[in-house]
Amino acid sequence: MPSTPLISVAPMMDCTDRHDRYFLRLIAPDVLLYTEMITAQALTYGDRDKLLAYDALEHPVALQLGGSDPTMLSACAKMGEDRGYDEINLNVGCPSPRVSLGRFGACLMLEPDLVAECVSAMNQSVSIPVTVKCRIGVDEQDSYPLLHAFIAKIASAGCKTFIIHARKAWLSGLSPKQNREVPPLCYDVVYQIKKDFPSLTIILNGGVKTIADINAHLALVDGVMIGRAAYSNPYLLADIQANYFNNNDILSRPEVVNQFLPYVSNQIKNGVKLTNITRHILGLFQGQWGGAAWRRYLSQHAYLKTSGIEIIEQALLLVEGRSC
Ligand SMILES: Cc1cc2nc3c(=O)[nH]c(=O)nc-3n(C[C@H](O)[C@H](O)[C@H](O)COP(=O)(O)O)c2cc1C
Repeated sequence: MPSTPLISVAPMMDCTDRHDRYFLRLIAPDVLLYTEMITAQALTYGDRDKLLAYDALEHPVALQLGGSDPTMLSACAKMGEDRGYDEINLNVGCPSPRVSLGRFGACLMLEPDLVAECVSAMNQSVSIPVTVKCRIGVDEQDSYPLLHAFIAKIASAGCKTFIIHARKAWLSGLSPKQNREVPPLCYDVVYQIKKDFPSLTIILNGGVKTIADINAHLALVDGVMIGRAAYSNPYLLADIQANYFNNNDILSRPEVVNQFLPYVSNQIKNGVKLTNITRHILGLFQGQWGGAAWRRYLSQHAYLKTSGIEIIEQALLLVEGRSC
């Protein structure tokens, strides 16, 4: 196991955009952050400057790609490396029907040869790590030997780090949300992969919520990736920073807000709507006195056209009990 555990915040569509990542970085300087999935099609044909834009403060930050065309993915990986991303991750875990229709995401677990081709092509075009995020199986194809063979195949194509969401996905019949809740979590399967592939870096994902959870997993795998718990309760990352990394510079919640304000102000000047930023910070005071007032104030005021950073400042006064 690496001496510094690998702890990351999961890629989450509509959640881990650049505003959220900037905010999370203020809370935890050392956790690895992932972009939302960006499709190779979008990067190839769309506004790539916009799609790849991020702030230097976000490092270390990984770019997650969705796709299954080796040539296109290889070009997109290179774009990511050229923009300074620290890692390229291939999404082999998303079960959404739209994604499956495009032949990427979790359905690719049924096509290990194609995934291997993609990984190999991406590896040839970049020198930063190319990693894979997958499930433990899909549909009826969920036996351990199949997962073992999948990991072996992709590893032989040059992938050294796997992030494994410890539940299978049903490609039809369950919505993406249900696919994050209904199939049971099978941590033992991920632990066994680490035992069988000791030289690979194995990161466990799924249902990790507390420092106690993280400690339990870190005894058996190299790292953990946290999704929903980090989004709904972002200050959990301060505990993570304190427990596993340098804890000298941890900001209090109000300090996080104050350091975030200049960024928000700049983004508003660039035409970003305030709600596109404040929606990520609603959970900052979760479980704290005034946390509900913070959330309510932001929800009720940030959407107004005239609203600016003073809305956040006012909400902070409410939490600090200095306003009524
Ligand atoms: C709103 C939302 C969006 C997600 N989008 C992505 C995505 O773009 N790429 C991906 O690989 N996984 C995505 N996921 C799955 C998460 O990365 C993670 O695997 C899953 O939530 C399980 O981890 P958790 O139990 O810690 O939340 C998404 C999850 C949520 C809740």
